[in-house]
Amino acid sequence: MSMIHIDPLEKRWLWAIGGMLAIFWGVQIYYAAAENMHPPSNVEVIDSAKLHLSGEFAEDNLGVKKEADGSYTVTMVAARYGFYPQEIEVPAKTPVKLRIASFDVLHGVHVPFSNMNTMVVPGYVSEVHTEFQTPGSFPMICNEYCGLGHDYMYSKLHVTAGKS
Ligand code: CUA
Repeated sequence: MSMIHIDPLEKRWLWAIGGMLAIFWGVQIYYAAAENMHPPSNVEVIDSAKLHLSGEFAEDNLGVKKEADGSYTVTMVAARYGFYPQEIEVPAKTPVKLRIASFDVLHGVHVPFSNMNTMVVPGYVSEVHTEFQTPGSFPMICNEYCGLGHDYMYSKLHVTAGKS
């Protein structure tokens, strides 16, 4: 029966907090819906110590492949201190699936201004789906500290003018 008393100052802060939550949540929903930015959800285990011996991540099988549906699959290995192959080329405005596995320790792979950003955890295959809009050359950088050479761990991504 008694009304709850809330101090006016407290009330103002409640509104401020509510407003901030709405902004943060709105930003997340916007980027998820409009920019296709999601936490990577692929869960697939692999034996990192045997990557090089056979299969998808053996040296001869790395690189860019064109699929029957016109999309591209990029298969890479992250290892101290580089991403292999060290240069890749894909067309713009075309679906690209990146599959990457670590040969040794935890790495991250990030292409600035794109949704390509994932941790590369030893023992798992990381998969990212993306589509590059702008032709040009971009760095593909490691964003998880992996040792003394971490700062120099990068590859080059070339995006060519694709179909318009
Ligand atoms: Cu690889 Cu930092």
